[in-house]
Amino acid sequence: MKIAIGSDHGGIHLKKVLMDHLAERKIETDDLGTYTEASCDYPDYAVKVCDEVVAGRAERGILVCGTGIGMCIAANKVDGIRAALCNDAFSTKMSREHNNANVMCLGERVTGPGLAVMLLDIWLDTEFAGGRHERRVNKIMAIEKR
Ligand code: RB5
Repeated sequence: MKIAIGSDHGGIHLKKVLMDHLAERKIETDDLGTYTEASCDYPDYAVKVCDEVVAGRAERGILVCGTGIGMCIAANKVDGIRAALCNDAFSTKMSREHNNANVMCLGERVTGPGLAVMLLDIWLDTEFAGGRHERRVNKIMAIEKR
């Protein structure tokens, strides 16, 4: 599995923690920035990561900003993306099992590194349940075609 990952300045430290953990798990990452602590605009990085996922160059994406909210709003504007803001274990698990989320959003100012790594593992290791959830996810994706 290859994961595209990005952050703004507000998420750069947590992004590094997540990348280190992914490396430990031998999961390939493509870091699309930001690369410095200089103030920048999170939608620019949301689009970079989501484009990789939609094009199939990465199987999934991870986005980190201060709260995770801006990244999540921006990512869900991209056709083909189902981004989930993951602050707790239950929502994180359900975002995969029920919503087949292909982008995980985290907030460095909200979620500490230990919990974030735990949530990342849950998100990586939970499969989409399909069945009735597939019908519902298909209805979400059909909204893009209206
Ligand atoms: C940047 O200050 C901050 O607004 C951003 O990281 C994020 O929290 C937006 O949702």
